[in-house]
Amino acid sequence: MKLFSHTSSRVTNRSWTTLLVSGLLGAQVAQAIDLDLGSTASIKAAAKEIAHGMVKYYTGNNTGDVPGNLPDPYYWWEAGAMFSSLIDYWFYTGDSQYNEITMQAMLHQVGDDQNFMPMNQSRTLGNDDQAFWGMAAMTAAENKFPDPPEDQPQWLALAQAVYNSQVVRWHTETCGGGLKWQIFTFNNGYTYKNTISNGCFFNIASRLALYTGNMTYAEHADKTWDWMVQIGLISPTYQFFDGSDELKNCTAMDHIQWTYNNGVFMYGAANMYNLTKGDQKWKERLEGIIKGANIFFSKEPPDVMTEVACENNGKCNVDQRSFKAYLSRWMAGTIKLAPFTRDLLMPKLQASAQAAALQCNGPNNECGLRWTKGAEWDGDMGVGEQMAALEIIQSHLIDEVGGPANNKTGTSKGNPAAGGTSQDIQPPSEITMGDRVGAGFVTTIVLVGVIGAAWWMVS
Ligand SMILES: *[C@@H]1O[C@H](CO)[C@@H](O)[C@H](O)[C@H]1NC(C)=O
Ligand SMILES: *[C@@H]1O[C@H](CO)[C@@H](O)[C@H](O)[C@H]1NC(C)=O
Ligand SMILES: *[C@@H]1O[C@H](CO)[C@@H](O)[C@H](O)[C@H]1NC(C)=O
Ligand SMILES: *[C@@H]1O[C@H](CO)[C@@H](O)[C@H](O)[C@H]1NC(C)=O
Ligand SMILES: *[C@@H]1O[C@H](CO)[C@@H](O)[C@H](O)[C@H]1NC(C)=O
Ligand SMILES: *[C@@H]1O[C@H](CO)[C@@H](O)[C@H](O)[C@H]1NC(C)=O
Repeated sequence: MKLFSHTSSRVTNRSWTTLLVSGLLGAQVAQAIDLDLGSTASIKAAAKEIAHGMVKYYTGNNTGDVPGNLPDPYYWWEAGAMFSSLIDYWFYTGDSQYNEITMQAMLHQVGDDQNFMPMNQSRTLGNDDQAFWGMAAMTAAENKFPDPPEDQPQWLALAQAVYNSQVVRWHTETCGGGLKWQIFTFNNGYTYKNTISNGCFFNIASRLALYTGNMTYAEHADKTWDWMVQIGLISPTYQFFDGSDELKNCTAMDHIQWTYNNGVFMYGAANMYNLTKGDQKWKERLEGIIKGANIFFSKEPPDVMTEVACENNGKCNVDQRSFKAYLSRWMAGTIKLAPFTRDLLMPKLQASAQAAALQCNGPNNECGLRWTKGAEWDGDMGVGEQMAALEIIQSHLIDEVGGPANNKTGTSKGNPAAGGTSQDIQPPSEITMGDRVGAGFVTTIVLVGVIGAAWWMVS
């Protein structure tokens, strides 16, 4: 995942084009998506329209294209995230029209070791990137998405494979533990231990524990949480900071905060809460995380989710435009597994869904990024914007579905030993010196860290 990637100028150009388009069409198209949260039919209709707008970007099922890949400028991980949204879309609405492309894409990207590490993605393959596909497979098992043909890898086994390949990457030589962001030394960010990678691992481990009842997974979830607190990446007020550099033994960190870091831990904690049958420790943590999420909800209009670090300054990159999708997804999942959180989370889900529907007011009802802007389309559009609107709206169907399946109620076949052999993966031969130094990751991160710190001080 390229948190601080160099795609912003390309995005700006596209925004200008879309602004122009909106200017020309503005008179006719001022018609946001209708949404009545009291009506299941209305929620489904809105979700259907937005899902259609999202899948329009996907070209992987065209002849000659690669199933599972989104076109430039979307990175590989975001496609995994998108298919996870479509698995939820089918689960919540019963509309199976995208199941075929989802099955095809997921199975095409499993890689040689059947653990979502396709060799030719290794330049964009960090622990978080791999995990977004792994979490999609976990969701497929939990939702009882149709199982793959018997000669293909199965959903639960794929999630276990991702877990197994990551658990051995737990790195104790620096910072007292943690996962590094990157898997391969040749990728920029190899010395960075970041919150999303550790959060995804925590999320998968806690879900595997609840699904299988195997407490080994829960032990590793516990360990990950404790390490995050020890390093200070989770603050005493449950702020989740971006990450920390092992070159300084994780004594300094980038304090920027993203919605998905809160969400990935919120849902993991909800799984631990449910697994422990309402243990007080996990209840308190869950309440803390939910309170910590308040920084992502606007005061005016009230309770509308916003990517506070980059929406107001116009600096959300392509990845970041999708992050609200994951906080939305995991807030809904949290209500399911920890019903006591409903009153805390539902007002925010409702206000945000209404605001998102209004913002789906671009050409062909494409959704903008800034839900706080009401029906005044902000000129942005893309896979991330569509996915975020889809997730916040379809999450209002949670009462139409049951809780996640487990190995008594589910159908997916597991393999506790899946996917363990890929640690020896070699760097692709085409990696050049330019790739190694080109992205200027370290410089960017220092800069963003300084700006991020300053930004948090003034606000
Ligand atoms: C790809 O999938 C989409 C969504 O299901 C569908 O509308 C489209 O026709 C498919 N394209 C091809 C070439 O099959
Ligand atoms: C990458 O590898 C897959 C097989 O895992 C192949 O289908 C695809 O064409 C390759 N190239 C790209 C750009 O994904
Ligand atoms: C590095 O950090 C870890 C965790 O805080 C700590 O236990 C360890 O002593 C530190 N090592 C050094 C050399 O400072
Ligand atoms: C569920 O998983 C646990 C732990 O892996 C195993 O002991 C148990 O037999 C499984 N139950 C079923 C019904 O598969
Ligand atoms: C529980 O999970 C651990 C870790 O993946 C594995 O080694 C062990 O075999 C599993 N136990 C069962 C009963 O599935
Ligand atoms: C655990 O989740 C189920 C839904 O899957 C829910 O019915 C149950 O109440 C939850 N347990 C606790 C302790 O909240």
